[in-house]
Amino acid sequence: MNRAIGALYRLLYDGLLARLPEPTAVALGQAALRLLPWDRLPAFRLADPRLAVTLGGVRLQNPLILAAMYYDPRIIVRAMGLGFGAVTTKSITLAPRAGHPQPNLARVRTAAGPGLVNCNGFQNPGLERFRAAFGALPHRVPLIVSVAGESVEEYVTLVRELAPLGDLVEFNISSPNTRLVYEWSRKPRELAALLRAVRAATDKPLIVKLSPDFADTNESQIIPAALEAGIRIVNYGNTRRVEDRRLSQGAGGLSGPEIFPATLDNLRRTRARFGAGLEIIATGGVDSPDKARRLLREGATAVGYFTGFITRGPILAREILEFLLEDR
Ligand SMILES: Cc1cc2nc3c(=O)[nH]c(=O)nc-3n(C[C@H](O)[C@H](O)[C@H](O)COP(=O)(O)O)c2cc1C
Repeated sequence: MNRAIGALYRLLYDGLLARLPEPTAVALGQAALRLLPWDRLPAFRLADPRLAVTLGGVRLQNPLILAAMYYDPRIIVRAMGLGFGAVTTKSITLAPRAGHPQPNLARVRTAAGPGLVNCNGFQNPGLERFRAAFGALPHRVPLIVSVAGESVEEYVTLVRELAPLGDLVEFNISSPNTRLVYEWSRKPRELAALLRAVRAATDKPLIVKLSPDFADTNESQIIPAALEAGIRIVNYGNTRRVEDRRLSQGAGGLSGPEIFPATLDNLRRTRARFGAGLEIIATGGVDSPDKARRLLREGATAVGYFTGFITRGPILAREILEFLLEDR
């Protein structure tokens, strides 16, 4: 049954969504997600206590996390019923942001499979409107609220104000398409002060989301500073920065299967170096049950993905969960 749904979705993706101009495909996909009650269909979920994990002390029904991209509460609520153990919001900034002009998303098709490159530029409603929309949102599964700031003060405000809406808080220092966030990885001393300030701003479990482009700095400076500040979870990681002339910014973040080998390497090294004291969400390029299982076997506490949700469809979570159960 799931195989059939998966195969049908792939036909729909290859035959229609991948042929439409990107903005049309995005609008169509998001409208379908918002308007149709996918989350009421049990076919997309699999509840089994053998799949449960804890992240920062929070129990997740399973180790799959929808990575940061959506800020529409109707989509987030639907996603909570689509098999994920937790769902992440888009990175929210203090003021609303329109994002970078179109074209800000392009498809990539490589031997590894379909992926995306984006320079979204944090299109989001800003702190106040996000809080109004998410204040009363039911949490069918834990919600990870993601934030992005330009200064220590901004991150502290965002974390303090938005942490009450989430079960965990992720702070993004790694999206490559605005200088404001990406630059943090280039100044690890200032970042250490940021990590301490953010830790003091909330009691909720904190996740720092790393860039795969700064593996050395991440592992020699940023993760040690996070642990010293009392932050025990990393999401490794974000998209890889690439040049792409099709995008309005001439560059963007690559996601999808091409970055999977780096995700696996980064996880292996980080797990070996920091041991069990660090919880690791491995994100980047997961678009099949086998890739999710490899990351978990290499010591990931949880596995995140976004591009696979688009290219393989909402049934991917269920396909992965069934595959994982074969191991238990
Ligand atoms: C269109 C788009 C928007 C994204 N927005 C965010 C964001 O707001 N914050 C963030 O931390 N990551 C963001 N990401 C990165 C994803 O959460 C994820 O880390 C990355 O795409 C790698 O995983 P994947 O290969 O499974 O997509 C975005 C990715 C895409 C494709």
